[in-house]
Amino acid sequence: MTPAGGRLRVGVLVSGRGSNLQALLDASSRRDYPAEVVVVISDRERAAALDRARAAGVEALFINPKDYADREAFDLALVREFTVRQVGLVCNAGFMRILSPAYVRAFAGRAMNIHPSLLPAFPGLHAQRQALEYGAKVAGATVHFVDEGPVDTGPIILQASVPVHPDDTEDSLSARILVQEHRLYPEAVRLFAEGRLAVVGRRVIVR
Ligand code: GRF
Repeated sequence: MTPAGGRLRVGVLVSGRGSNLQALLDASSRRDYPAEVVVVISDRERAAALDRARAAGVEALFINPKDYADREAFDLALVREFTVRQVGLVCNAGFMRILSPAYVRAFAGRAMNIHPSLLPAFPGLHAQRQALEYGAKVAGATVHFVDEGPVDTGPIILQASVPVHPDDTEDSLSARILVQEHRLYPEAVRLFAEGRLAVVGRRVIVR
């Protein structure tokens, strides 16, 4: 939802460090950027990402999964918090929980995730380690819509590749991929905010 004349209101789900959140906050701080992060929600109280949000003057909420009977009840609390703030797009940025179908349906076509691999290769945890162990020569990052599939399955919006070097460690490869993540996520949000993304079947057309 974009209030008339306003920028797209974005909510971000985080669990940890928050470097992708930071990229979105930095983009939001530019006046010509068509979206703004209005709320950040973490399932972990000590997530550094919450401090990044506060430092940027953005509302930062910790919602404790333990306060809810089950996964769906927690996820519906997230839906409520985003809905009351008229969020038009939700971005997962290092959010370490799988979202239930009720959540995905509430934000169908309006939820994005970033993943440190060239999907559909290496979904799930430790994608960079998976790429190294597989012996991949090229790795990368993907921004995709969130769908009801198991993990990291939704239509792909943007991808960028990086080389895998023979002496790479998980840390060195992750750092190279992260540079691309920080470029891709704000760009994907921009395209969405400008109404330039059309989903046709599995394909996302950028207009
Ligand atoms: C990133 O690599 C992201 O692709 C993955 O989790 C990591 C989160 O890093 N989903 P940060 O919290 O954004 O720094």
